[in-house]
Amino acid sequence: MAFSRFAKRMDQLKASEIREILKLTERPEVISFAGGLPDPELFPIRELQLIAVKVLEEHGKEALQYATTEGYRPLRDKIALRMNRTLGTAWTADNILITSGSQQGIDLAGKAFLDEGDVIFCESPSYLGAIQAFRAYGPEFVEVPTDHEGMDIVQLRELLQTTQRAKLIYVIPDFQNPTGRSWTLARRQELIKLANEFDLVIIEDNPYGELRFEGEPIPSLQSLDTEGRVLHLGTFSKTFCPGLRMGWTAADSAIIPKLVLLKQGADLQASTISQRQLDAYLETYDLGEQIVKIVEVYRKRRDTMMEALRREMPADVRFNIPSGGLFTWLELAPELNARDLLVRCLDHNVAFVPGGSFYPNGGHENTLRLNYSNMTEERIIEGIARLGKVLREYTAELQASPLSI
Ligand SMILES: Cc1ncc(COP(=O)(O)O)c(C=O)c1O
Repeated sequence: MAFSRFAKRMDQLKASEIREILKLTERPEVISFAGGLPDPELFPIRELQLIAVKVLEEHGKEALQYATTEGYRPLRDKIALRMNRTLGTAWTADNILITSGSQQGIDLAGKAFLDEGDVIFCESPSYLGAIQAFRAYGPEFVEVPTDHEGMDIVQLRELLQTTQRAKLIYVIPDFQNPTGRSWTLARRQELIKLANEFDLVIIEDNPYGELRFEGEPIPSLQSLDTEGRVLHLGTFSKTFCPGLRMGWTAADSAIIPKLVLLKQGADLQASTISQRQLDAYLETYDLGEQIVKIVEVYRKRRDTMMEALRREMPADVRFNIPSGGLFTWLELAPELNARDLLVRCLDHNVAFVPGGSFYPNGGHENTLRLNYSNMTEERIIEGIARLGKVLREYTAELQASPLSI
């Protein structure tokens, strides 16, 4: 077999570290803060059981048949209405494309907008799955320094002024993966201004916005956009369940047909039966109530993890207190390496994702991401205690090593 015959783009791609690590953490004894998994105990299994039967009984033939690429119209109507209510947009079903998870929306946007050598700006750090999807289209990644208020807009402007082929900007303004941070309204407004000035397309990826533990929602980038340059990616993975693979892209009516063409080539359409089931669920039950339940559980887990971190971490470890979403982000002393720490932690059956993998251009090896949604409070307390112990041992060993002097 001609393994030398792969396309050039394959040289850029390497196995996702998260997936490799998840394999190691599948053992039940591992307390894993590694994945980004919702808690399966919260999946509405009984409701879906009833819905699945109902859909097959009432619309079996349609539910098992091919359907349009754009997606099931009643579902697109509901998504448009929901967005208009919660995110301040003014969409109709024609602005919504149903995708196989929001991950597919990322991929389609990359395919639609990126030529090889184009520049894509992203937060530093950013979501690994997006970096991987975009990488296949051969762009140059420019990381923009990001703090507790969002991207540093002054630096973004400077970077834009010196960049020839600026095209796309990919951001997660609400409870970001991996840091858990959100952007302020002012930063959002400034980003829109810059995008207008430099003719950029913005991808606003928003899987976590509805998982808010406290405070008021901040207007979405798409609601601030007056030029149709923001693509908003949504998903039911974190508010409902990821297994149905139900996501969507909301965009100006000039953009959606282009994405439809690409989706036709990718997979013809999202699963008809998943769309029908989701639509029937939204028709019969109140997703808002389901989200309230999820938020209550995750808020407690966030609190438990924050208390445990305050108790167990050495004083020089900095961590973010997220107001929503699934993650927090740790910065260790600069001489520490989170990959080495992970290897040690796995010996003690505790896992996380080293932060270096979230930087498209590498570096920042002293950072790490912790997920709190998929472990019970008891396991969070135990896992953070183990992490603290291993971290202290590792730090002490480094300090004792002659190389560190
Ligand atoms: C920021 C971000 N975008 C997109 C996705 C993809 O989610 P899905 O394809 O399940 O909608 C994830 C999943 O964790 C994510 O964290």
